[in-house]
Amino acid sequence: MELREWAIHILSADRMEDKLFEPKELTDQEPGGALFWKMPTRPPGMEFKRHTSREKLPSFQEHNDSDKRAVCLHRFAGHELLAVEIMAYALLAFPEAPKHFRKGVANTLKEEQGHVRLYVARMEEMGLKFGDLPLYRHFWAHIPYLTDPLRYISVMSLTFEMANLDFAPHYGKSFASHGDEKSAKLMQIILQDEIQHVSFGYNWLKKMKGNLTDWEAWEQSLPPLMTPKRARGFIFNAADRIAAGLPQHWIDNARTYNPVPGMKSPD
Ligand SMILES: [Fe+2]
Ligand SMILES: [Fe+2]
Repeated sequence: MELREWAIHILSADRMEDKLFEPKELTDQEPGGALFWKMPTRPPGMEFKRHTSREKLPSFQEHNDSDKRAVCLHRFAGHELLAVEIMAYALLAFPEAPKHFRKGVANTLKEEQGHVRLYVARMEEMGLKFGDLPLYRHFWAHIPYLTDPLRYISVMSLTFEMANLDFAPHYGKSFASHGDEKSAKLMQIILQDEIQHVSFGYNWLKKMKGNLTDWEAWEQSLPPLMTPKRARGFIFNAADRIAAGLPQHWIDNARTYNPVPGMKSPD
């Protein structure tokens, strides 16, 4: 199956098995013209809902309750499904990108499909089905700004996936502290994959940044309402940024960054 055909299949799918469809063989002979997909089709009941403050993620203090942990996993599964769709978007939007880049995006997409499956399996063990709770468009709101591969990697790999280097171990440790080793192990698997996904983004940023420093190229590629703060969680995990190949100056900038008031509002 061609990458283009696969991406269209995913974005227009109204069944979860089609969102998670993984062809045996993928080719990229006919990437076609650039196609900027507006909004993904969703299975019935899994359409994007408006996010209200009442639907906050359970706090860390509530992780002793298995139902609350399952709610967290449902939210994370929603993020993974968005990642699947945004990667499909990138395959359609950037037909002219280097073949090697497109292949990397396709491989990452397959891993994101795997992440959805892992979360869904675990939350079902905990009594929650994917789609039982509202799903939000979150990352998809930034999609109109992803007009070239540099912007795509800046937002997807080096912001959302980067932040997961903080969130995944933070949640994993909390789940483990409440005796939920299975969910903790799952967060560990996700973290290991995310390190590779960040690394993919950083390697391509270095190739695509032109005369800018890598940090400048990244910061200037973020959408207007997104600041470098969005690329970190509550507890800064330098070790896995180093594991992903980020240089010390980037890590220092990321750790200490604070936006200038009035310049850009936080995401
Ligand atoms: Fe993921
Ligand atoms: Fe990822």
